[in-house]
Amino acid sequence: MQNFTFYNPVKIVFGKETISELTDLIDKKEKILLLYGGGSIKRNGVYDQVMEALEGRSIVEFGGIEANPEYETCLKAVKLAKKEGITFLLSVGGGSVLDATKFIACAVLYESDPWEIVTTRAANVKAALPFGDVITLPATGSEMNPNAVISREATKEKFAFSSPYTYPLFSILDPETTYTLPPRQVINGIVDAYVHVVEQYLNDDLNTPLQDRQATAILSTLIEISPKLLEEKPEYDSRATFMWSATNALNGLIACGVTQDWSTHLIGHELTALYGIDHAQSLAVVLPAVWRADKENKAAKLIQYADRVWNITGNDQEEVIEKAIESTVQYFNSIGMKTRLSDYKINAKEAALRVADRFRMRGTVLGVHKNLTPDIIQNMLEKC
Ligand code: NZQ
Ligand code: ZN
Repeated sequence: MQNFTFYNPVKIVFGKETISELTDLIDKKEKILLLYGGGSIKRNGVYDQVMEALEGRSIVEFGGIEANPEYETCLKAVKLAKKEGITFLLSVGGGSVLDATKFIACAVLYESDPWEIVTTRAANVKAALPFGDVITLPATGSEMNPNAVISREATKEKFAFSSPYTYPLFSILDPETTYTLPPRQVINGIVDAYVHVVEQYLNDDLNTPLQDRQATAILSTLIEISPKLLEEKPEYDSRATFMWSATNALNGLIACGVTQDWSTHLIGHELTALYGIDHAQSLAVVLPAVWRADKENKAAKLIQYADRVWNITGNDQEEVIEKAIESTVQYFNSIGMKTRLSDYKINAKEAALRVADRFRMRGTVLGVHKNLTPDIIQNMLEKC
């Protein structure tokens, strides 16, 4: 096991009717900027619950934060926050609203060009406004991690950053808020959480039996509850399990002492930036290719994964690994997630070249063992 530091200060408030706890979670003296997305919270009653809990407080609203939050939109919120003398940010919505909130929290107090926050991965961030959230979409784990991903349409860029100042003070997780999610977002959430786990789990074999079992516990749980999550009528216990699984998939715990490989995410971000496909869709396309391209380094863990998650064993390692990859693809397809670039009307050859050229230009090489060069990435994307 590798050495590690584990720190997670986020207060989680989980369960039915917990939005009312906002009354005590936010101090009465705060001037609040309420941030939200395209309006789902106004249609499903979440907004009303928030306003009821915060009755009598000083609140300014900023809506319209899009999926894959835009830098330019965030800057408008920063301007508003400064003008209004905002002291606390409250994100109500999915991972995109929360990621935008993290960026805005930093940018309000940042002295120079705010795009630097993104390009330097928040290296110069020394303070941020305090913020909390009501998360309405189980997927990103943003509610219990310090990460944010911001997009810039003008340059078709999408980058992640992280800072010790961007942990939420609290996150309210009420599974009933997920009842209005359209199937596409439920499917996206399942796949995003699944891929978060495997990017931390399926790497070097460093003798970490506890973390391995924590990881496969999340994967097997997601597989087990998937049919229930896709039923027309939402059901509380499976939504609650989904929400807690997604949070646990990216709150730092299963990353302790292991090597992490975020290749699938980093390649996926380029596909989203260039072609606009959903974050989870990009992951479903790229993941099988990354596993095939890097299977020598991941062999021991892929074989363990095959056995523990899919009950696949055998003497032929190559065959076991290929069957595990195939089972994963079939699982994604079975819940309605498409796994080929052509399914999204993207020309694989063209996309491969565009993504690889960006990595060439930036000198990016991926993989725990830095073996996924732009040439290899181009080759593997051509087959997606
Ligand atoms: O905008 P509204 O109207 O609220 O609608 C949203 C949006 O259209 C809708 N939605 C959310 N909750 C709903 C709902 N609709 C009905 N009922 C509800 N309860 O769902 C749509 C997608 O929302 P979004 O927030 O974009 O989805 P998600 O939570 O999947 O976030 C995706 C973003 O997070 C980033 C992604 O790259 C992407 O930009 N990620 C953030 C991470 C992190 N912070 O740790 C890690 C991830 O790997 C990921 O990269
Ligand atoms: Zn993700």
